[in-house]
Amino acid sequence: MIRGILSILWLVAGTLPAAASVATLAFWSTVSDDDKSRWQKEGFDVVAFGCDADDAACIVDGLASLAPAEKRFLITGADSSGAVARLYAAGLKAETVSGVALMRAHGVQDFQVALPADAPKLTVFVEKSDAGTDVASAQNLVAAFRRQGVTSSLKFFDPQMMEATPVHPGVVAGISHFMGYAPQSELLMKLLTANELWPHLGHNNKGFLGETAYLTTKPMTDPVRTFLLRHFQQGPHVGKQWAFATYRSFDLLAYRDAVAPGTKYVSFRTRFGQFMAFDLDQYAAYGPEIVVGVDDETNMYQLAWYYWNDLMYSWETKVPNISAKPLGPALVFTKPVPDSLQLPFRQRTALHLKGMSFSKDDPLAKMKSYPENIQTIITKSNECIYCHSIEGVGGQNYHLNAYTAQPQGGFALALEDYSDDVMHAFLFNQEEVARKVGLSPNPIDPMLVQEFHNWVSALKKPE
Ligand code: HEC
Repeated sequence: MIRGILSILWLVAGTLPAAASVATLAFWSTVSDDDKSRWQKEGFDVVAFGCDADDAACIVDGLASLAPAEKRFLITGADSSGAVARLYAAGLKAETVSGVALMRAHGVQDFQVALPADAPKLTVFVEKSDAGTDVASAQNLVAAFRRQGVTSSLKFFDPQMMEATPVHPGVVAGISHFMGYAPQSELLMKLLTANELWPHLGHNNKGFLGETAYLTTKPMTDPVRTFLLRHFQQGPHVGKQWAFATYRSFDLLAYRDAVAPGTKYVSFRTRFGQFMAFDLDQYAAYGPEIVVGVDDETNMYQLAWYYWNDLMYSWETKVPNISAKPLGPALVFTKPVPDSLQLPFRQRTALHLKGMSFSKDDPLAKMKSYPENIQTIITKSNECIYCHSIEGVGGQNYHLNAYTAQPQGGFALALEDYSDDVMHAFLFNQEEVARKVGLSPNPIDPMLVQEFHNWVSALKKPE
């Protein structure tokens, strides 16, 4: 278990602190009296333009009639999606409207107009229970605006929040945050901020996309789709943002044969600091390829969800920021891989071209000298070596700060570097350690844990 965020949690329904500078919430068409008084109670001015959903010119007139100095936010529904695009295309600037919130959205076709650098930010709210096609359509619009340089994000409400009257406290919190007012719950504020910031941070898979000789677009097959959707297991609604109808495939074998002919092993060091290596010749028959794009999305790091841990390390009080879990480019196989050859899931995601290398010798060869039970634990049942190093071989896993895309703790240290107490507690009292840090336990088979403890303790002893 990871403390799952996956959507906005509406834990707190309190009123907001009185706003220092009042903002205007401008409704495209109408607003009920109940809702109006609710927003006014929050300290916002409320106007309704009474425009038809598709009438952008009416909104231009309405905005012109408002006092010039005010901070304003425009709010409307899916039927205005096209008109909102036209408003932006006509040069809408942040000095006129600070932001536009769409309650659901339809995709916008051919949205190719260059927009001013100071175009207002945009957010689309959907509900977790919305049909996949509707969520994907809203995400299409968000992505189209983002490609034009607009700060844009998609956020999830819980089911039936958007229809509630008077307006649901969660909706009040979500829109207030968008307007720059912090909801009382610090966690909620951080989550909403992560939703806005992460999509605009630097991570991308341009390295793979630059290798055009090895790329083809393919229709998605059921096994590939099922594999990719595992990333969203803890919050399937997040995965609804993409149709998973086609994918861009990077031909791993052809690439290896071109850049490192005669090598056998491929190693991946992921953007999470995880490490994996395997004999590519052995897996060649199963059609290894790397998914570097899904549908129209060319940045696999946009396929992300957010979570938090309570502590970085059980022996410290430091708390990490909200973390992002992007899928990133992922290794898949076009043919079924036998059970005995299954590779771990996480280490096959968040791949990048620079983190990939080829060698004649097995980078994990050192492990072959370890007792068989130990090898099973560290590579198969508990997979320690892919996240922690052991005698200089393995990963150094960490979390990705959702605000900065930089690595943040807790870092997975070399197994030799943990104190006896920490290792002992991890092995024999893991539920408690996991609860304290806020992570999923990964217990070792009780029949083998003592053997593992002896072995790992001996690693530390000088020869
Ligand atoms: C999926 C990656 C992953 C795997 C697999 C994994 N670890 Fe970790 N481990 C981490 C990370 C990351 C941390 C740092 C704490 C955190 O998660 O933020 C950590 C923390 C720890 C800690 C310190 C916990 C504390 O007290 O704070 C120990 C000890 C540890 N791991 C041992 C192991 C051993 C032994 C195995 C295999 C049996 C293993 N880990 C498997 C990623 C992993």
